[in-house]
Amino acid sequence: MPAILPFDMARERALELLERGQAIGLPTETVYGLAADATNGEAVARIFEIKGRPQFNPLIAHVDSREMAERCARMPALAQRLAEAFWPGPLTMVLPLAETSPIHLLVCAGLDTVALRMPRGPARDLIADFGRPLAAPSANRSGRISPTTAQAVADDLGDAIDLIIDAGPTTIGLESTIVRVDDDRLTLLRSGGVTAEEIEAVAGGKLERPSGPAIQAPGMLASHYAPRTAMRLNARDVRPGEALLAFGPHAPHDMGNEAAMLNLSPSGDLTEAAANLFSFMRRLDLAGATAIAVQPIPDEGLGEAINDRLARAAAPAA
Ligand code: TXA
Ligand code: MG
Repeated sequence: MPAILPFDMARERALELLERGQAIGLPTETVYGLAADATNGEAVARIFEIKGRPQFNPLIAHVDSREMAERCARMPALAQRLAEAFWPGPLTMVLPLAETSPIHLLVCAGLDTVALRMPRGPARDLIADFGRPLAAPSANRSGRISPTTAQAVADDLGDAIDLIIDAGPTTIGLESTIVRVDDDRLTLLRSGGVTAEEIEAVAGGKLERPSGPAIQAPGMLASHYAPRTAMRLNARDVRPGEALLAFGPHAPHDMGNEAAMLNLSPSGDLTEAAANLFSFMRRLDLAGATAIAVQPIPDEGLGEAINDRLARAAAPAA
């Protein structure tokens, strides 16, 4: 069972665990989050592992300040105005990644945007102490409801984490509102703690609303990064001119003519592979290869999400 401690007693331990790439239970004013270092790919992979998500949905990166936000994302004037009005608070903005953003690609699931929010309370203090953004989805297993107390986190994820910071029941009790900001256009991706009317009053214009089921899975709205090079999955060999995305200690035997080769995890570790996936796909896409051959990846644990992502990348663009 994890330690459940108030912030002042948990602070040091929390920083230590985050520094080691572990995930912790973290209270925010909306719901409790499962938080880990947003700049560390393996730490972020652990979040997906614990949640048991069969897909890499993009995560929200939590910041302590406007300054940290601006290191992570480009913030047009409209985003600045919304930050001024609603941060810290239950508003998440989807923004273009800054060129030198420290956010790991797995947080954005390979998209070129990042969802940012500045939480209230101990979460913000902890991020300030840590000095880096924290990725945090709601601290529930995939498909369960979002937890609003430390005990609810323990009941759902207790065997998978060492520490939950307890700040009592959350004040808002439902997730943050998510808006996408494209220069001066605003799109509502998920309704939540801040109302559309409040946002429109500050923005001085209407929020656009996508129709249909997209609203349940906002990450699926934006088209995912797909390599321009064709992908050949479950490859047992590598053909001349192809690039190889390898996995595990056993590379295909007819090696030597490949355009490039990167191994997601030479030891066959799925957490390491998840952390490397998006950046390695990007790098091999630039290798001038005829195709990217991908070695089979076991369809268990994080392998399921990796294979889901590879299948999407291999599918012809919709
Ligand atoms: O209140 C909240 O927002 C809580 C607390 C812990 O901060 N967090 C939360 O995270 O609800 P999560 O992972 O359960 O929901 C985040 C949503 C997902 O539906 C995801 O698809 C969307 O944000 N999202 C994240 N990055 C995105 C992006 N770049 N583009 C579009 N949607 C994105
Ligand atoms: Mg959630």
